[in-house]
Formats: sequence, structure tokens, C-alpha cells
Amino acid sequence: MKRILSLLLILLSVATVAQKQETPVKVLPLIPLPKEVTPSSDVFTLTAKTLIVLTNEKFKPEADYLNKYLKTNYNIELQIVASVPNDGNYIFITQPDFQGGFLENYDLSMNQNQLLLTAEGNEGLFYGIETLIQLMPLEKSLSGVLGDAELKIPCANIKDAPRYQWRGMHLDCSRHFFSKEEVKKYLDYLAMYKFNVFHWHLTDDQGWRVEIKKYPLLTTIGSQRKETVIGHPSDTAHYDGKPYGGFYTQEDIKEIVTYAGVRHITVVPEIEMPGHSLAAVAAYPQFSCNNGHYETWTTWGQSLDNYCPGNDSTFLFLEDILSEVCNLFPGMYIHIGGDECAKDRWKTCPKCQKRIVDEKLKNENELQSYFIARIEKYLNSKGKQIIGWDEILEGGLAPNAAVMSWRGTKGGVTAAKQKHNVVMSPGKPCYFDHYQSKDKKEPPAIGGFNPLDSVYAYKPTPQSLKENEAQYIMGAQGNVWTEYITDFKSVEYMSMPRMAALSEVLWTPSEKKDYKNFIER
Ligand code: ACM
Ligand code: ZN
Repeated sequence: MKRILSLLLILLSVATVAQKQETPVKVLPLIPLPKEVTPSSDVFTLTAKTLIVLTNEKFKPEADYLNKYLKTNYNIELQIVASVPNDGNYIFITQPDFQGGFLENYDLSMNQNQLLLTAEGNEGLFYGIETLIQLMPLEKSLSGVLGDAELKIPCANIKDAPRYQWRGMHLDCSRHFFSKEEVKKYLDYLAMYKFNVFHWHLTDDQGWRVEIKKYPLLTTIGSQRKETVIGHPSDTAHYDGKPYGGFYTQEDIKEIVTYAGVRHITVVPEIEMPGHSLAAVAAYPQFSCNNGHYETWTTWGQSLDNYCPGNDSTFLFLEDILSEVCNLFPGMYIHIGGDECAKDRWKTCPKCQKRIVDEKLKNENELQSYFIARIEKYLNSKGKQIIGWDEILEGGLAPNAAVMSWRGTKGGVTAAKQKHNVVMSPGKPCYFDHYQSKDKKEPPAIGGFNPLDSVYAYKPTPQSLKENEAQYIMGAQGNVWTEYITDFKSVEYMSMPRMAALSEVLWTPSEKKDYKNFIER
């Protein structure tokens, strides 16, 4: 009997050990993975009675953001108080004793009674709140009755800081137009994943989407096209015969910039020049080389007609536009495009050729550099910096320009070696308009193949750069061009989950990255 009992005990303890070994390591559903996470077994129960303790008024906007989120999703609103209560649990928001200027960092330490959020900057606190939100239950509006919800939040101690300073996502609103509400939804996704730059592609051959008060035809004519090519362009392609258009008023833009600002996202507008400008010259043909009759483009590719750099009034026109743009966007950078500019018209335009001679330029590439440098000078005078696609390197880089490397990484490497700031956005793997799987049922895309694991594996800083050069790599960006993305559902389909993978590339220390673990989260 004794022997049987001890055998049973042994079996029981073996079973316990086996069970212990099988207990999975707690994986908190956090993306991007914070720098340091130590899960605990405590649970913080957030209810309508939980208080927010705010010791510094500067954090009020973020406390309000948290409250608004709780109201929208769980139908509860927390009271904000100035000191720690005698009983009940609370969220304590404060600044660290030591202030080192790490504005994006935050600490989140939690137990069942207290949830302590510490940050120096409003952006750091915002990221802490986004992390907290990711720990909340997925079931929203747990009760229809105001104040009934009980949110069980798994506790952890988290110390967090981003890896890169430019964590960008782009959206092309020219090829297809997305409403103000859709753009806000996109910004919500960016905020969830701690992106801090929204690159808003507002003008292109197929549509001018930003109201410019001085030049109303940009939107009355330039925001409209008479129809759109169906599928991939070819000589035998069909057109849908349906007029297409849309634009953002300056009030819309202000609303979106404010919405982004609350989420600590800087909006970088892209006003394309000198190429990709057919919609603009369709409205104001006097600023093209041929002053012809143009129409906002109905197909995709690279149009031959664009701005004429031989004409001084082209620059005055663009400066007027940029002046209004500068007033709408408070961020430091204005994206001036610069990519894929056909030089065919410039080659035969007497004014362009005269400019080449007068300015002692070698060729049309240098004429493009002249164009960009002249625009840069104007924008610098308005307190702004320019960023452009890597073609702006051809013919010589404007003195203060930042470069967005899209045709691979070569442009980024060259610019960093010249001590210019760089955002890496190589087609492979940063273009999310490329296919994400080889499934035959994928909707038509522009081509290319950028599956999730290749995005996750991306290393923005090229190995070939020395340390003093690598510091010019500000970060990276995912691009969502919309030739074949016709509605917002498709924007979501193409950008997710690649946006999530890129967020981890840009935020999480590289040694902490683990694809299997990412998928689990
Ligand atoms: C680009 O994709 N043309 C920048
Ligand atoms: Zn010209």
C-alpha cells in the first residue's frame, strides 16, 4: 500500500512538472514589442470607479484621449483627480525624476491596485497609453449600460523606447481618393502601431486633392478625371467611362492635421514636382512647356507633360501653392516628390534650353536639380525642409534636402554618405501595393512580391554605412500606392498586417525581434 502511495506521489509530481513545462510563456499581445516586458500574474480590473491621477496638467490631452477611447469602446469614463485616493484602484500618470530629453520613452508598471505610467514627453505618454490599450480586452462595449464594464488587464512591467525617429506610413490619395473619415481611420492604425509620420500623397497626374485658394482650378479641374483605366494599362485597355474625383478642403486638411497631432503623428504632405504634375497643368497649362490642352490623366504610368522649369512664372505659381501648404502643415518637412520626371518636353522646349545655357547646366538632369534647389531655397525661407524621392540625387542634391530611397537602397546610401538625412523606403519590402501572397485569389496589384516575413526581416540601416554615416538614416516607411487599390477596405487589406511588421522593424530593438513570436502576438 505504502509503495503504491509513493508511486502515485511520484507519478503526480512528474505530472505536475510536465504540466509546468507545458504552461506556455505568457505572450502579451503587444505590437510593436516593447524594449523590455516583464509579465506578472496580477490583473488590474479597470471599472468606472478607477481614477486617473494626474499630477501634471501637461498630460491632460493624453488622459482625455484615454478617456475618450474608454468611452467609445467600453462605455465608461474615468474621473481625473490630482492626488492618490485612499481606496480603489487608479491610473497614476507622472513624469520621471530624471529628465534626459527622451520624449518618446515611457515606463508602464502595473499591479492590481495601481497602474503607473511615467513619461517625459506627451508623445511618450501617448505610446504608453497605446500599449495599455493593446492590453485591454478585445470585446468592446462589454455592456450597453453606461459604466458597467469591467476590464481585466493583465499586468506587466514595461520599459519602452523607439529604435528609429522616422516611423512612417504613406497613403496615395491621388490615384484613388479616400474620405476624411477613412484617412482618420488610417491614422488610428498608425497610432496603434506607434508610427509618427503620415506621408500624404496629395497630388499626381490623376488628381490634385488639396484646395489651394489662389488657384481654384487645381481642384475644379485638377481633382476630376473623366474616367479610369480598367486593370493594367495597355494599348487595348478598356476604360470605365465613370467620372472620378474628390479633394480635401483646407478645413478638412486642418481637421486631419489636428487629428494626427493628437496622436503624435506629423503629416508630411507630398506636392509632386516637377513630374507627376499633369493634373496641375491640365488646370493651368501656362506652366507646362507646350501650354497645350491637357486632361487629368485616366491611366497609370509616367506622363510626359509636366512643369516647365524654363518659365519663371512656374516657380511663382509653385511658391504660392507651397505658401498655402506651409500654413496648413505645421511639420518641418514638405515632400516635393521629384520622382519619375520625364524630360522629353524639356529637351525640345526653348525656355528650358535657354535656362540650361543661362545657368550653365550640363543637361536636363541638372535642370531638374536646379528646379529642386530653387524650390528648396523658397521652402527653407519659410522655415521648412524638403524631402524628395531619390531621383533628386541625379544632377546633384539640393543643399539641405532629405532623401527618400525607393529605387532600392542605393540612393539612401549615397545621400547618407553626403551627410543628408534619409528615409529608407525601398520597393522591396516597403511597397505595400505589391502582392503579399502568391494565392491566385489575390486582388490585382501593381506587381512585385513583398510577403509579411520579408517586411519583418527588413533592416533599415544598410550594412555598408559606417557609424557616422548610419546616423543619417532617420528610419523607414511603408508606401501604399493606390492605382489598383480602389476603396478603403482594400487599403486595409494591403497594408495589414505588413504595417504591423514594419512597426516592429522601426520600434523594437533588433535583438528582441522574433518572427514566430510576432506571429503569435
Ligand atoms: C515612386 O514610387 N514613384 C516614388
Ligand atoms: Zn519648358
